[in-house]
Amino acid sequence: METRGNFGSKLGIILATAGSAVGLGNIWRFPYMTGQNGGAAFILIYLVCIILLGLPGMLSEFIIGRHSASNAARAYTNLGKHKAWGALGLMGIITSMIILGFYSVVAGWCLQYLYASIIGGVHGDPEYVKNYFQTFASDPIRPVLWALGFILLTHMVVVRGVRNGIEKASKILMPLLFILLVIIVIASCSLPGAIKGVEFLLKPDFSKVDENVLLEALGQAFFSLSMGTACLCTYASYFNRQTNLLKSATQIVTIDTLIAVLAGLMIFPAAFSVGVQPDSGPSLIFITLPNVFQQAFGNMPVVSYIISVLFYGLLVLAALTSTISMHEIGTAFIYEEGKVSRAKGAWVETIVCGIIAVFCSLSQGAVEGLGFFGKDFLSNCDNLTAQLLMPLSSFITCLFLGWYVPKKIVRDEFTNWNTVSGKLFPIFLFTIRFICPICIFLIFLHQFGII
Ligand code: PHE
Repeated sequence: METRGNFGSKLGIILATAGSAVGLGNIWRFPYMTGQNGGAAFILIYLVCIILLGLPGMLSEFIIGRHSASNAARAYTNLGKHKAWGALGLMGIITSMIILGFYSVVAGWCLQYLYASIIGGVHGDPEYVKNYFQTFASDPIRPVLWALGFILLTHMVVVRGVRNGIEKASKILMPLLFILLVIIVIASCSLPGAIKGVEFLLKPDFSKVDENVLLEALGQAFFSLSMGTACLCTYASYFNRQTNLLKSATQIVTIDTLIAVLAGLMIFPAAFSVGVQPDSGPSLIFITLPNVFQQAFGNMPVVSYIISVLFYGLLVLAALTSTISMHEIGTAFIYEEGKVSRAKGAWVETIVCGIIAVFCSLSQGAVEGLGFFGKDFLSNCDNLTAQLLMPLSSFITCLFLGWYVPKKIVRDEFTNWNTVSGKLFPIFLFTIRFICPICIFLIFLHQFGII
């Protein structure tokens, strides 16, 4: 068995973990969730979830991962001193496999848009742009091939090892993505009638908040921060002793939230300007962005070309740094527990996720009725993970760390001999003991109509 890799530099760790957090969750999922759930009011609830539940939850996973320096299932087993706790890590690993399956489909859509941009872009009126997406997504072959291609790409990066593959990529891509987002936000906000979109994002309309919104916001927060999937735990297992967990988590949460809000500011002003419905669902960014590139940069074809190719290119890479982290979770588990080579472990992961991806892709119109509970297969995978498995795993993790694991271990990992963290430890402990579990529990009860 190969030895565990280690991250080379401090910046590399933060960027790679932030690379896992920042992805389609911020740029594709956050805008469409915001659009379906009333705009500003959703964002407010989302921010509360991020601060109250996301940050402490992320810290908890960091603590478990770094303390054990092993795959997620073994990390929980080691700390809990009982095999049964490994089930929690295993649940996270399975969750990440399901996510990788449907995520690759959306990442495949991004690849198609990248390809379309390279060969000249998607040009036409908003109706044409919409039909273009629908025709493509319901095709039985092309989106499936793109999705499988994306998983294979992830596979290739993962088998090259932790340090080379992940760290190098994240260092350059994240800042570049940020700059490009800012440019597109400015372009989008300068379109005629864009102000309505800005208002939609800033003026809360609580009449649009129904009983689902709480769970949707909670799910989005967890999804966006890669929580409850054993992913943070696996990455933290590569952290070194000097890493200040509190500082790192705060930085990552801030970057992640900033990118999501920027993505909102990029999509809604343009959507309102060209008449795309904010509640268009998963297709939202794909039926909005080509309009931005055409209209905002229309009289500068070269600029429009460069920006759209760069944007979809970076979106694909942002998705890749997330899929690498999901793939890494399963691979680390399979090769360490199954006593197989890293390469074999990676293949098992790739094949399982590939099968899920095929079903998800075909459920988008190519095969009628591929789904259950009145929703297509892809939406079911998305809901099952973001709204049930991730919060549930986080709920149990908080209880596990707050009540079961010896306090000294938690304190040592959290404070790391840092005085600021030391002072904040009682607040952290209180939060994971009471606030997080109670809030998640209440949201579940609310969802099932009990309160
Ligand atoms: N957080 C990632 C995103 O926002 C998705 C993700 C979920 C990554 C779970 C890893 C694990 O795109």
